[in-house]
Amino acid sequence: FYSVATTVHRNPLFSIISPDDISYFKTLLGERGVVQDALALDAANTDWMGKYRGSSKLLLQPKNTEEVSQILKYCNSRCLAVVPQGGNTGLVGGSVPVFDEVIINVGLMRNILSFDKVSGVLVCEAGCILENLISFLDDEGFIMPLDLGAKGSCQIGGNVSTNAGGLRLLRYGSLHGSVLGLEAVLANGTVLDMLGTLRKDNTGYDLKHLFIGSEGSLGIVTKVSILTPPKLSSVNIAFLACEDYTSCQKLLLEAKKKLGGILSAFEFLDSDAMSLVLKHLDGVRNPLPPSIHNFYILIETTGSNETFDKENLEAFLLHSVESGLVANGVLAQDINQASSFWHIREGLPEALMKAGAVYKYDLSLPLEKMYDLVEEMRVQIGPAAKVVAYGHLGDGNLHLNISAPAYDDNILAKIEPFVYEWTSKNRGSISAEHGLGLMKAAKIHYSKSPETVQVMASIKKLLDPNGILNPYKVLPSSLLSQN
Ligand code: FAD
Ligand code: MLT
Ligand code: ZN
Repeated sequence: FYSVATTVHRNPLFSIISPDDISYFKTLLGERGVVQDALALDAANTDWMGKYRGSSKLLLQPKNTEEVSQILKYCNSRCLAVVPQGGNTGLVGGSVPVFDEVIINVGLMRNILSFDKVSGVLVCEAGCILENLISFLDDEGFIMPLDLGAKGSCQIGGNVSTNAGGLRLLRYGSLHGSVLGLEAVLANGTVLDMLGTLRKDNTGYDLKHLFIGSEGSLGIVTKVSILTPPKLSSVNIAFLACEDYTSCQKLLLEAKKKLGGILSAFEFLDSDAMSLVLKHLDGVRNPLPPSIHNFYILIETTGSNETFDKENLEAFLLHSVESGLVANGVLAQDINQASSFWHIREGLPEALMKAGAVYKYDLSLPLEKMYDLVEEMRVQIGPAAKVVAYGHLGDGNLHLNISAPAYDDNILAKIEPFVYEWTSKNRGSISAEHGLGLMKAAKIHYSKSPETVQVMASIKKLLDPNGILNPYKVLPSSLLSQN
């Protein structure tokens, strides 16, 4: 495991769980809601990457908002620190305890509350798993405005709390646009009902936005109302190869111009990413054999005119090959081939896990500079580790991964602060979509001004004066302990 003990210390103001606390929670939630089993706790203490690990002795599973409210009210009065946890697929060490924080998981709150077939507004509890919402909507002829590789485990409450981006952001925008309302419980147990279903509502400050992307540091999200787009009948996918990064950028511009309204994804991976997937994921074949190209682009279009959309993408592909932007390309001929293309891109996080230790950086950068960082990082690191790049190119979001046989402080010293300084110098963001969590709480100043961070700390202190909600995460602990 990754050692954080050197940078973060347990806040001595937090209480330690007592037998009386356990009795209280059992009375409130029943035996089922109070988990102390070693195996279950081990899983809940360990993050998806197996990199961050806490030592919590208690996992609580409330069944409704009232129980969440009672739990938080009690924890606040006892000064017991808590960590809200969803599907535990977060990638920045935000979803697991750092020390002995009580884990609160709303996974039992998984009801769909309403769906309006005219407006497309879905209202559901925060513990609904993303994939279940996708299937529910599929039957209704709609889709979720977000999709990501972790859909089988992540919860909508976790998605909202991380402001997850994913594979469809290019088309449907961020959750700040599609989440119309939410219900959240504050540290003192107050329930904030902001569960509107309106597209337009300018009555004062729109507080729901504070909870979108605040990573469980301001409250626990218990219900979500989200605008979902209708499912369109024609989806086409092309897998293309480019030999240089300039061509990838030009291709993106061309795709926006020529595919405009129907473009729904523009993802990329480099040759090291492709080699990694081919090596570590079973049954994956290179769609453009025989050789490995320098860059691969996955383009998806979603529209309603089957003949026209396919012809449009074919013509685009042909033109891109003729003009020399694309070295090779193939259009998925059926749904199996389409999902095999997606599997290559979505399988990258898993392939990296199989390859050994991974240092993950999730950056927003100006498009023209983005790959310079990857190349400079390769020079910086040398042969000790592999630099693997992929991401949501259409959104200017690079996933820069350094894959090594094992975690090694010498490697880390070559990556940080270099990667953060480079990003800051180019006015990028050190977290495009994964959040700050524990990993980057102390690095926020690389992307936000001191004045902005100070206002964030004031908001945190106002909503959570005892700092019990997800401590050590998102904001530098040093700022929050000041009076
Ligand atoms: P968790 O991991 O459990 O928690 C994440 C954070 O949210 C934590 O800080 C936690 O405290 C907080 N939280 C969780 N639930 C609540 C709640 N109800 N109320 C308040 N706070 C809460 N992210 C992207 O943006 N785009 C991607 O394309 C993407 N792909 C991924 C692919 C894989 C294979 C994996 C493993 C992860 C991926 N992620 C991606 C990371 C992403 O953050 C999560 O998958 C997802 O949004 C987190 O949801 P979760 O329910 O697992 O939350
Ligand atoms: C992705 O786009 O695949 C995810 O954000 C996960 C990752 O960065 O590895
Ligand atoms: Zn991503």
